[in-house]
Amino acid sequence: MKPQNPPRTYRVKSFGCQMNVYDGERMAELLAERGITPAAEGDEADLVVLNTCHIREKAAEKVYSDIGRLVKAGEEAGRKPMIAVAGCVAQAEGEEIMARAPAVSMVVGPQAYHRLPEMLDRAARGERSTDTDMPAIAKFDALPKRRRRAPNAFLTVQEGCDKFCTYCVVPYTRGAEISRPFHDLGEEARRLVDAGAMEITLLGQNVNAWRGEDDRGRAVGLAGLIRALAKIDGLERIRYTTSHPNDMEDDLIAAHGEVGKLMPYLHLPVQAGSDRVLKAMNRQHTADSYLKLLERFREARPDIALSGDFIVGFPGETEAEFDETLALVDAVRYAHAFSFKYSPRPGTPAATMADQLPREVMDERLQRLQARLNRDQLAFNEASVGGTCTVLVERKGKHPGQWLGKSPWLQSVWFEGAAQIGDIVSVELAEAGPNSMRGLLRETALA
Ligand code: SAH
Ligand code: SF4
Ligand code: F3S
Repeated sequence: MKPQNPPRTYRVKSFGCQMNVYDGERMAELLAERGITPAAEGDEADLVVLNTCHIREKAAEKVYSDIGRLVKAGEEAGRKPMIAVAGCVAQAEGEEIMARAPAVSMVVGPQAYHRLPEMLDRAARGERSTDTDMPAIAKFDALPKRRRRAPNAFLTVQEGCDKFCTYCVVPYTRGAEISRPFHDLGEEARRLVDAGAMEITLLGQNVNAWRGEDDRGRAVGLAGLIRALAKIDGLERIRYTTSHPNDMEDDLIAAHGEVGKLMPYLHLPVQAGSDRVLKAMNRQHTADSYLKLLERFREARPDIALSGDFIVGFPGETEAEFDETLALVDAVRYAHAFSFKYSPRPGTPAATMADQLPREVMDERLQRLQARLNRDQLAFNEASVGGTCTVLVERKGKHPGQWLGKSPWLQSVWFEGAAQIGDIVSVELAEAGPNSMRGLLRETALA
């Protein structure tokens, strides 16, 4: 590769989960520290970081089409953008990317992006580099201070996964479970609040597996961390995602009834309703133990909005087993959920299991499942009509004078009136749609 001019502008494109969004923000800050500025809307950037996701086939294929598009746009404009591939595809297929895509200068895994600045120097000398080491939590230490932020911020508290569900790449792309230290998280949360965050969402692939020691040396779990963060003045709302049914501690359930700043929302993936399928997935819980857990959350916080993830068409899933997923959905009545067709991922045990199902079967099951989930989401929204709640204003709406924000139950709410981004206002929920609610402003700027 020829030496490349040091980039003056950058763009970070993040795909996949919220942890990638967090990582993408941190990479942007690292680049900004070097004096590289974000490319203006519509402009080609000198450096493009593709922060990729490997969870399903479609997501992973995107990286190659994106590289192709960047090279072509560069050729048409008579320039060569510097391309870095980061994230989970970088971790899983780093060598393949280097071989298949000569336009790529850097491949950097999700645990190594604090090395991005050195890699930029090498790219300027014409050297390509790959770094997919997993040095525990070094990346968090090496990262710069965080600057001005939106009213809602992400904070990664836990990384990695030891669960090895048989369909999933995350344990391979993100590595083993680790928890960031209590003290560091308190500091970072305070900095986020100082920079304008009103709401913090604590992130982890298994966020409720977080364990640490508080300032007095006592062992604490996620609930202990949440209780400590709730003491930060100016922080009004706390959320966390994604939890695993097997890491749930009693105190987290209790916290939902006790900590006012903890929002009434729980994302707890189940994947399937059949115990045979759950076993083949290596989920290590049953449909019944999952339902009992949700019951306990509802006891602690009766209005809690429940959310989940589902996979349809896992190898060998029969029609009767799929019906058990539908029955579970009927039993829970989710406020919101994500559902996916099973995607065989290279290197995972499920990819070589017998009875991979035809696409048509998966398509049809996904449609049936989504029809029920949509029905329940609309019903949840309709049931909140007439109530009054707080809304954290996140952005302007489509029309002048319109604002968009989130209810405590994570519904998107739009309303008109005197407000600004970062306000917490009181809104009466007046009308329910499938994906958003129309509200009437009742009280401005509560916080
Ligand atoms: N750690 C979280 C999220 C993991 S990835 C958890 O365990 O819940 C997010 C979702 O992607 C999963 O919950 C699952 O529903 C889906 N997913 C993961 N691997 C998949 C695959 N191979 N095919 C289809 N969906 C998948
Ligand atoms: Fe993947 Fe299972 Fe780990 Fe979630 S718990 S990240 S689905 S292996
Ligand atoms: Fe995708 Fe990696 Fe997140 S595979 S879902 S970006 S952990």
